[in-house]
Formats: sequence, structure tokens, C-alpha cells
Amino acid sequence: MPKVILDCDPGIDDALALLLAAASPELEILGITTVSGNVPADMGAQNARKVLRQAGRPEIPVYIGEMAPLEIPYVDAMDTHGRDGLGESFLPEVPGPFPETSAVEFLEETLEREEASIIALGPLTNLARLFRKRPDLVRRVPRLVSMGGNFRSHGNCSPVAEYNYWCDPEAARDCFQVMAEAGKKLEMVGLDVTRKIVLTPNLLSYMERLDPETGAFVRKITGFYLDFHWEYERIIGCVINDPLAVAYFLEPSLCRGFDSFTAVETQGICRGQTVVDSMDFWKKQPNSHILTETNAGGFQRFFLSRILRKPDGTHWKPEELARPEWLA
Ligand code: RIB
Ligand code: CA
Repeated sequence: MPKVILDCDPGIDDALALLLAAASPELEILGITTVSGNVPADMGAQNARKVLRQAGRPEIPVYIGEMAPLEIPYVDAMDTHGRDGLGESFLPEVPGPFPETSAVEFLEETLEREEASIIALGPLTNLARLFRKRPDLVRRVPRLVSMGGNFRSHGNCSPVAEYNYWCDPEAARDCFQVMAEAGKKLEMVGLDVTRKIVLTPNLLSYMERLDPETGAFVRKITGFYLDFHWEYERIIGCVINDPLAVAYFLEPSLCRGFDSFTAVETQGICRGQTVVDSMDFWKKQPNSHILTETNAGGFQRFFLSRILRKPDGTHWKPEELARPEWLA
């Protein structure tokens, strides 16, 4: 059973990713760490607890991480995720103090004790802080899967940059560099694949039919996100980036890509851009696996079969679900 730490900035799509991870019995989730991104890390930690309560997994510990990027001023994404980070659902808070241990301390203590993979769904500030202090610990991370970056797809917060790596470009740069020095590959689940994962009103209605309780929760936190996508991109539906990173970790066959050396620009108008050396100009050892194709229908069935339950509490089997094309 793979041991995993989820590093995130919940955030609406992070919340859906946490629902998926919490419903996946093959994962041993050692803890959740939050980082300032969509919302400040402390708000994200409270949101993570709200999602774990919904998922029936309140025992999973949540640690508050870095409140600001390594070097540049913090810019949140509350315009997209709402003032509470969960689509202005303003769900009741989960009482109780958070651990004194910070996210970076938790990561360091855990990786000293045992190996654990990391699924990163937000800016990479926590990981960069950890690896700056303890570069040796990268060898204790079997897989580092990061939702972030883009290869051929355009950016979502500048013409060339994706938010997680734009929000803290120095952290992203450092993580790709550390992976290069360790001879490892960061598995980059970027916009090239996540843009194909769209939660549509049809799909939302279908989810509510299959599992009214979970469907209602998903509708409650995604309404704001749907409005944002109509307002700014004139699309009906919302791109849910983060759940694909969790699904890909669990089922790598859902995506395809290639190995490459990747660097991250930190200065000027291209700040946060992932420069993927797909043609091997620089003749450098690959430090990344760049995902470029995904089976969106396969993801949909995987996602729904994991997070939705029948009235008797059992899960729907993928083969019991409508064919994705019926729900387009
Ligand atoms: O660019 C999309 C990514 O930035 C997602 O992880 C979203 O939650 C935000 O963190
Ligand atoms: Ca995120």
C-alpha cells in the first residue's frame, strides 16, 4: 500500500482531489500539508478538514505550511475559489487546534522515518523549503507527482504560466533542480492534460442521482467555480485540475507523456513558465515526466466510482456507470 502525503491549497479542485484520495483504500495517507496558493495555508488547512469530515476521514492529520512564496509577494486565487476557498459554501468549521508541527517539519520528520510519495496540488513552496534544508530527503520520495506547469497548452494566469508555478516560480525551479541532482523525475500533471477534465452540469446532475449526499456537496462547492468559468472563459462547466493528479498517481495508465529536462523561468513576463526541453537541445538528463495525453472518460469513471456511494454504502462499479460520452 503506497504511503503518501498530499500537499495542497484547498481550493475547490483540491477538495475534489482530497475526496478521491480519501476514498481510495490503496493509499496510506500519512498526512495532508497545506500551502498558500488558492487561499492562505491556514484557511486551506481548515478547508482540508472540512473535506475530510465530508469524506468520513477526520483522522487524517492536517499540517499548516508556508504562508508566502520563497521570494516574491503572495498572490491568492480567491477570485476563482471564493472568499472561503470552497466556492463561498461557507461550510461549518471543524473545531480543534492544528498541530504545532509545521508542514515542513512534518515532511522532514516523516521522510526521516519512512519513505513516502508526495502528490503536490499547489505551489511547491513547502517542498522547496524542505529540500533546501534537507536535499538528501528527496531520495526518500519514491514518486513526486505535481499538478502544475504546461507544455504546449497556454497558461491560466499568464499567456505562458500555470498558477501553481507562477505563484511561486522559485519553488518550482528548485524542485525541478533537486530532482535533476537526484537523478529523479518529477511527474508533471500539467494543463495539457488537466484541461481535458471538465465537470459539466450534466455530470453534476448525474452524480446527484447516483449519490445525493456527495453530489450535493460537490454542487455546493463548485457552483462558484462554474460561474467563474462562464464569466471568464464562456464555458459551461469547470476544469477540475487536481483530481487528475491523484487519479494518475493511483492509475498511471490514465495518462501518457514523455521524459524531458525541464526548467522553470522565474523572471519577467514569462515568470512561472515551464521550459520543457522536448527536443533535447541542452543534452541534459531528464528530470521530469511530462504528461500530454489523458483518457478523460476513463478518469470520469474512475473518479465517480471512487467518490460516489450507493444507498447501501457500497461503491458504484465503473461498469455500472453511464458511458462518459452520454454525459458530455
Ligand atoms: O492552475 C491550476 C492549479 O492552481 C490547481 O491546482 C488549482 O487548485 C490551483 O492550485
Ligand atoms: Ca490546487
